[in-house]
Amino acid sequence: MAALQDQRFQEAYELAVGLTADGDQDGQAAYLAGAAAMALGRLKDAFTWFSEARKGKAVSELQLERALGQALYMAGKEKEGALLMLKALDRMGLGLFGISPVAFNTCFPIHRLQHRPVMNVYAQRFPEMAEFEKDWVWNNPPNGDDMTRLYFLAENLKRLVEDGVPGDLAELGVYKGNSARIIHRIAPERRLFLFDTFNGFPDRDLEPGDHRTDVFHDTSLEAVQDFVGRHDNLIYRPGYFPDTLDGMDDEAVFAFVHLDCDVYAPMKAALDYFYPRISPGGMLAIHDFSNPHWPGVARAVAECRCQWKESLVVIPDRAGTAVLIKA
Ligand SMILES: C[S@@+](CC[C@H](N)C(=O)[O-])C[C@H]1O[C@@H](n2cnc3c(N)ncnc32)[C@H](O)[C@@H]1O
Repeated sequence: MAALQDQRFQEAYELAVGLTADGDQDGQAAYLAGAAAMALGRLKDAFTWFSEARKGKAVSELQLERALGQALYMAGKEKEGALLMLKALDRMGLGLFGISPVAFNTCFPIHRLQHRPVMNVYAQRFPEMAEFEKDWVWNNPPNGDDMTRLYFLAENLKRLVEDGVPGDLAELGVYKGNSARIIHRIAPERRLFLFDTFNGFPDRDLEPGDHRTDVFHDTSLEAVQDFVGRHDNLIYRPGYFPDTLDGMDDEAVFAFVHLDCDVYAPMKAALDYFYPRISPGGMLAIHDFSNPHWPGVARAVAECRCQWKESLVVIPDRAGTAVLIKA
């Protein structure tokens, strides 16, 4: 160990290998041999010794996974190595990244490494955040690489409610209900209007340049209701938007509107309908504003914003959500 700490790696390697010959029940010497071999850049040897060390008990599974992962990674097996290192991080994760144990088992490794706000602040403000994280990725793992948006939605919606901004809530683009469920859970006392075909994009809206047209079919109104809930304050409006605005109250006022429909036609119709109906201090969140995969979103915004008094702030989430607070 001393030779290793002094960076006399060759000597450390020979000593450790010698010790393994004396019987290395707990795997300690094999681990040291592996570490020295790593330092010498002898990755094959490192891998062999770390594997050997696994048979003993002296070194924790965590240390071994991390070391083996590193050896594999450096030896060019990047995917296998990264996965092993992430497995080790899993074991350390809670303290290190502030990751909720509930969310741990639910999605891709990248989810675990996403930046989060300081947890001891958020844990007080959002005791249910571990459940929100789980809901955010439920049946929709790609949401796991957009944790910033989850925190943005949760934090700002909660503030609107605390500030008493009057009005209902609305979302256009519900898909499986991941964002809708968070919105409803933060403000269950407010009416939440949910607009979607619940069957993917209507063909008539798709334009050349739109990213993927064969998506969002794998859902249904019933599945979303099972997940988000059935409650008087949850008002589902299935079908083609803006047709599904039929019957809305002429006096409707909104405190929070989340537009996440990806394509130009419904986005333009939604901006025309919702903007004038948002209360002062209310929020309009336009997802995919900066996303080149869905150019219709920025185009719809560009056509409308010259009539708006307010500026937009863009959140650096996965696809650049643009946000406006109504004057
Ligand atoms: C990106 S998904 C919504 C994701 C959801 N907000 C979330 O965070 O999980 C986009 C949704 O917009 C819906 N959509 C797009 N155009 C629509 C239209 N004209 N009328 C109704 N729904 C539409 C699609 O059916 C799809 O479910």
